[in-house]
Order: sequence, then structure tokens, then C-alpha cells
Amino acid sequence: MVDFENARKDFPILEKGMVYLDSAATSQKPASVINAVNEYYKNYNANIHRGIYKISELATEKYVESKKLAAKFINAENYEQIVYVRNATEALNLVALSWGERNIKQGDVILTTKMEHHSNMVPWQLLAIRKGAKLEYVDIKDKAELDMEDLEEKLTHSPKILAFTHVSNVLGTINDAKGITKLAHRAGAKVVVDAAQSVPHMPVDVKEIDCDFMAFSSHKMLGPSGIGVLYAKRNLLEEMEPVLGGGDMIRTVSFEKSTWNDLPWKFEAGTPNIEGAIGFGAAVKYLSEMGMNNIREHEKAITKYAMEKLNGISNVQVYGPTVENTEKRAGVVSFGIRGVHPHDISSIFDEENVAIRSGHHCAMPLVTSVLNEPATSRMSFYLYNNEKDVDAALNAINKVKRIFKIS
Ligand SMILES: Cc1ncc(COP(=O)(O)O)c(C=O)c1O
Repeated sequence: MVDFENARKDFPILEKGMVYLDSAATSQKPASVINAVNEYYKNYNANIHRGIYKISELATEKYVESKKLAAKFINAENYEQIVYVRNATEALNLVALSWGERNIKQGDVILTTKMEHHSNMVPWQLLAIRKGAKLEYVDIKDKAELDMEDLEEKLTHSPKILAFTHVSNVLGTINDAKGITKLAHRAGAKVVVDAAQSVPHMPVDVKEIDCDFMAFSSHKMLGPSGIGVLYAKRNLLEEMEPVLGGGDMIRTVSFEKSTWNDLPWKFEAGTPNIEGAIGFGAAVKYLSEMGMNNIREHEKAITKYAMEKLNGISNVQVYGPTVENTEKRAGVVSFGIRGVHPHDISSIFDEENVAIRSGHHCAMPLVTSVLNEPATSRMSFYLYNNEKDVDAALNAINKVKRIFKIS
């Protein structure tokens, strides 16, 4: 049994007494991650791959070790399939700019969904404009789930690529990544999974899902910001061209032309985020020790508790899968209070020292066109949250209702 109550002590920022319910935006960091970054700067700060001296070799070793930990964490075959980028957004852009640039032609169909974060929508819009391709979107059913019939229908248009989110950052919906990938492959499409909200919170296995590409960010999974992962199948990475040129990504350079370094370095031009990678390694270690199944179960229980309580409050609307469908929901709960703007909700929560997010959550089409709202308020949970945090949020909702005289 993992003692999640005790684990709260690993997060120095929580000692300040704040209730943090915005982990879908970014997570808090345990002392082990903060210390790993500090240790690097204090004891072995050096560039990687270059110096033939001890601290440079140690920094290189730690950087590669971080990739090995990340590969194991998602069950990738090899660390060479782990490309470090700045964040999930950059990983998705890299696929569009490299694989997309070479493989998408005029008139081709690119398929994504109406559930996406802008990071998994705008890069495909840009690619479609550049190439004269057609961008199509899978519909959402009951304002909660991907419409699988519509997906199957859109797959008959023979898209070259399907890019979808594993977990919605607005609705909390967990999509059946394995099932969707299978359908897309059968239709001949390559598959990109935006795992920014799944890899931090549940076991994710790239071999089992069989996706071609996967993107996620360190900062949402206890690690530092400024570092993220693009995972891809090896043959795809091998045939892809680099997007950025410069140091480290080359094997040879002449005045006329250059040749590329081995994977994954071919895609990592210039000095990378070394301390970020080292901190990320520490984060992956921390999560692995806690056990991703345990984390998922812990968050599921808190989410169910929150959903049940919210459903009992008049004039509060919860978006996404219903409480009976908790299996299909990650620890993300978007809600609204009738007659109150979500930004006012957030401000009153803040007065109560409860941090939540209000807005379109970088999913403007989903919020404004599918949910038909200008914005929503969102609580999101992580391993360091407990039912008391939910109770604090419920008290803040009561305060909002009192102030706005909502019954
Ligand atoms: C589903 C989803 N995809 C992509 C992103 C982008 O992540 P980042 O800003 O770390 O690139 C986010 C961030 O909120 C997200 O929730």
C-alpha cells in the first residue's frame, strides 16, 4: 500500500498550506526532483557529449540515464526512441514539421478530433495550409466522448494521419488509445497520441497501444518545465529529416552538406536542457516507485468523491463523463456555476487559497463550440491531493454561491 498522505510531505510547496487543484496545467515538484537539479548545478555542471573530463562524462551519463528511465516508463523498446524537446507542444509540432512535411501531399486528409488541446490542432492546421491538405475532426458524443461511429466514418476518407488526445484536459475523458489506434492502422493512417494528460497519471504502454508517435511533457509529471518527450517507432525516426540543424545533431559537416547523427541525437540540435532532463529522470523514478496503477486508483477515488459531491449541489454543472463512468475519466473535473463567470469562480477560490483554472484551457473549439460555453472552471488532481482538498473546493463553491446569491 502506498501512503499518499505521507507523500504530500515530499512536496515542499504544499507545506505553505495551499490547496493545489491545477495539476493539469502543471504539477508540483517533489524534493527529489528539486534536489536532482540542484545537485547537477552544484556538483557536475558541464555540457554533455563534449568534454573528456569527469563532470562532463557524469552529466552525459545522467542525461542518457534519464532517457532510459523515460523509455522504460512508457515501455519503449529503446532510449533511442526518446527525443527530448521542450514540451508536448514541440513534440507534436516536430511530427507535423518532419514526418508531415515529407508525407502529406495536396488533397490528403489529416484527421484529428474536436476534443484536442490547441497543441494537437494548430500544428495540423499549419501543415494542412502549407500542403493544401484537408483537416477533418472526429465529433464528440453527449459532450463527453469521442463519437466512435463518426471516427469509423472519417477513417473511410483514408486519412494519412490520425492525431488524438489520450485524455482530454477539459472533459477528463480517457480515450481508448489502443482501440482507436487499431482502427486507424487498419485504415492505413499513422497514429499520433497526445499523452500530455495520460502519461503523468496512469500506466501507458506504447507497445500495447502500438501508436506511431506519442508526445508528453515533464512539467505535468513532477519534472521541470522546458523538457518533453517525442516517442516514435524507430523506422519512422530513421526516415524522418531533422527540423533544426546545428551542433550535436550531425555526424559530418562539410561546406557543401551534412550527415546526421544517430538516434535520438539527430533531433536534438544544440545544447539541450540538461538540468531538465536530469530532473525529469528523478521525476520518472519517483512516479515509478509510487506505481502508476496506485496513482491512477488514488486519483480515481478522489475524482469519484468530487463528482458525487458536485452532483449534489444545485446550479452546479459538471462537464464530461458522468460519475457512473468514472472508469472513463481521469482526475480532471470541469464545472460551472449557473450565472457566474468562471473567472469570478477562480478569484473567489483563490481568496480561499484554492488554486483552480478557469478559461478555455487551450481547447477553445471544444469549450466554445461543443460545450457552448465561454469558459469552464476546472479542478485537476494528482497523487498529492486528498478528499480534504476537494472539501476545500466545495466550501469555495458555497462561498461563490453566497456572494452571487445563487440557490
Ligand atoms: C491534452 C494536452 N495536450 C497538450 C498540452 C500541451 O502541453 P505543453 O504546454 O506542456 O506543451 C496540454 C497542456 O495543457 C494538454 O493538456
